[in-house]
Amino acid sequence: MKVPLLDLKAQYAALRDEIQPVIETVCDSQYFILGPQVQGFEEEIAAYCDTRHAVGVSSGTDALIVSLMACDIGSGDEVITTPFTFFGTVGSIARVGAKPVFVDSCPTCFNIDPAKIEAAITEHTKAIMPVDLFGQMADMRRIMEIARKHDLIVIEDSAQSIGAAHHGKKTGQYAHLTTFSFFPSKNLGGFGDGGMVVTDDAELAQKCRVLRMHGETKRYHHSFIGGNFRLDALQAAILRVKLRHLDGWSAKRRENAAYYDEKFVDTPVVTPTVYDYNKSIYNQYTIMIPKGRRDQVQAHLTELGVGCAVYYPIPLHLQECFAYLNHKPGDFPSSEVAAGEVLSLPIYPELTDAQKNAVVAAVTKACG
Ligand SMILES: Cc1ncc(COP(=O)(O)O)c(C=O)c1O
Repeated sequence: MKVPLLDLKAQYAALRDEIQPVIETVCDSQYFILGPQVQGFEEEIAAYCDTRHAVGVSSGTDALIVSLMACDIGSGDEVITTPFTFFGTVGSIARVGAKPVFVDSCPTCFNIDPAKIEAAITEHTKAIMPVDLFGQMADMRRIMEIARKHDLIVIEDSAQSIGAAHHGKKTGQYAHLTTFSFFPSKNLGGFGDGGMVVTDDAELAQKCRVLRMHGETKRYHHSFIGGNFRLDALQAAILRVKLRHLDGWSAKRRENAAYYDEKFVDTPVVTPTVYDYNKSIYNQYTIMIPKGRRDQVQAHLTELGVGCAVYYPIPLHLQECFAYLNHKPGDFPSSEVAAGEVLSLPIYPELTDAQKNAVVAAVTKACG
């Protein structure tokens, strides 16, 4: 049986009757940029995250760039982050002219290792950008303690983890600014690109709003150099429908993860570690295949028609475009091990029992 890594058509089939009318409403209004749909969605996201403010932007990457710009982070500043993440995290730091400073990931949970952060702080450090990878929050409690002690800003890249929780509090409630992506493959995915910044800080929220409109504070009066970082009304309208289903979908993903966890006991598969004080939304179910066998297992699964992917095969400190940072293999061993061993399996909510069984059978066989 073939099982795709993600089946967005199955999700759309179930939602078609809810989504089509809102698309029509936006088309009838011919109001496409920002406007009431975006404002309504922002209010709903702020309520969902229990934050005071939410600012809709054009993508998860732009949410990071806008957040960095709102904090005046740029040339001469250092931002601490993890090398085991999607490119956009580190790309956005470099994009505003700041220097990405890497701290290795935790060997088991893939998120930045808080025990190693303080050693990376210098007089130039302005912010920490932890990433909530694969659906599980970074250790935000410890990270905020470190940030308070050293007077640093925290911008949490929660592109993959909307609705996840840490010590009972959702993503958005710890950092100064938290960012989300609505890329179609996210748990809350649009019909195109989209993103959001959430914060409790009214001044930062207002600055993000201004920055997404070319820094315009009054019509044709530009107090800052911003950009076009606006969210489309169509995306907002569709995402408002999907937001109503988000918690149900994430619960289903957790059920699927629990099923896999149990089936992979006594196999060579290293199942994902989710700490008991964390609630993951499992944007990815990422296993590790040790002993240099990951690529072989991936090839075997692909042959059997079971979708799988490597997020991410090259840690950011070894990317060509960051050669100027002068890192070499061995600098961040946990991230390098993860890059060589991780494999993400189908975990989407619409998976049937037969599909899950097919995944387990194929993985077990491929590892055999
Ligand atoms: C960890 C992380 N950061 C940032 C982004 C960027 O989001 P977007 O693709 O919406 O720009 C992503 C998206 O894949 C991500 O996974």
